Amino acid sequence: MRVGLIGTGRISDIYLKTCARFPELTIAACGSLNAEESRAKAEAYGIPKTGTPDEIIADPQIDCILNLTIPAAHAEISLKALNAGKHVYSEKPFATTVADGQRILDLAEAKGLKVGNAPDTFLGGRWQTVRKLIDQGVIGKPTGVMAFVGTHGVERHHPNPDFYYQTGGGPLLDLGPYYLTAMVFLLGPIRRVSGMARRTFDRRMIENGPRYGEWMPVEVDTHSQSMIEFSSGAIGSMTMSFDVWDSETPRFEIYGEDGTICIPDPDPVHGANIFQGPVWYRTRAQSRWEFQPRPTGRDDWLVADNTHGFNEDSRGLGLLDLAYAVRDDRPPRASGALAQHILTVMAGIETSAAEHRFVDIDCTCPVPAMLPEGFPASENTSYKDIEHAS
Ligand SMILES: NC(=O)c1ccc[n+]([C@@H]2O[C@H](COP(=O)([O-])OP(=O)(O)OC[C@H]3O[C@@H](n4cnc5c(N)ncnc54)[C@H](O)[C@@H]3O)[C@@H](O)[C@H]2O)c1
Repeated sequence: MRVGLIGTGRISDIYLKTCARFPELTIAACGSLNAEESRAKAEAYGIPKTGTPDEIIADPQIDCILNLTIPAAHAEISLKALNAGKHVYSEKPFATTVADGQRILDLAEAKGLKVGNAPDTFLGGRWQTVRKLIDQGVIGKPTGVMAFVGTHGVERHHPNPDFYYQTGGGPLLDLGPYYLTAMVFLLGPIRRVSGMARRTFDRRMIENGPRYGEWMPVEVDTHSQSMIEFSSGAIGSMTMSFDVWDSETPRFEIYGEDGTICIPDPDPVHGANIFQGPVWYRTRAQSRWEFQPRPTGRDDWLVADNTHGFNEDSRGLGLLDLAYAVRDDRPPRASGALAQHILTVMAGIETSAAEHRFVDIDCTCPVPAMLPEGFPASENTSYKDIEHAS
């Protein structure tokens, strides 16, 4: 699949590294609002062409647009790409409003094109292992889940952190997709939510890079708490915050009738937004966690029976799966429908906080299947030999 990359900022490096691992994906051109930045990226990664976003979207040689722009631009770029007949894979959130997300889905449907969306972390070895444990019934019927991220925002490490504090940003829309997508992958769709939220600071200072000392206005809530009810009857809670200096609260746990799965993480920022890491579980029959003793460092993270691949940052894996989805005419695992469900859930949490009421979630989504063992080789390697449709 020939891919045109739009948005050559911070997150693009890991996508470009992942795509370079897979012959199925060719980054044919890249562009952004910053031509110099895009030229440097093209040179660093051997991308043959750069252009303006409109030129890349109009390029007949390109099959799919990889949309790594800032959240406020996601819908505009995705809609333009679909109108030009291209498949789309976008960073999260899917859009900044549910209505825009629905526009993207409707246009893709009308045009017969595929839409995929980050996060694809749930395709990583850690989350595939958790799903396998649940499907095998190790903890019995899941009854609850809790997720927690307490950070003090991104202004200490992101050189241009403004968008995190503008409409479309904030911890719920920025980090919520990782945790909620993992929850839906593991426990199924969500049917009802409630939330509370606050904004602790009205402005924040950039504390790194060339813009050090510059103040940014904060347009969004930066501490969000929510309650979640799944269609299965399981219930959960989720805290996503940019206002917490530190915490020892567990990052992600799943409770079942017969046991608990814990997805521990020594790093408060990286719970569900990484592909790899240990998985602990304890059942009725055990007196302590499996996979003890507690890992001491990142090198110890792979759990004994994690037979799945992608135990490293593999952002872009969802795009690879989308390439196979195009070939086989099936929905991608990290699908637009899943992303729209997650966006609707997050909008519901915001509505609940604003209106002080429970909110029913009026859309659902297919729960993605696990990656087959040995993916992508197991997806029929003859793909590379198939003459491209265009
Ligand atoms: N930085 C991270 O650690 C990280 C991690 C995971 C996901 N993400 C997501 O990736 C996306 C991009 O984040 P980033 O950190 O790379 O941002 P960034 O600010 O570093 O880069 C954004 C890029 O998008 C381009 N852009 C912005 N508006 C555009 C428009 N209207 N048309 C065309 N191009 C436009 C900019 O020129 C720039 O190249 C966001 O949705 C973010 O949530 C970022």
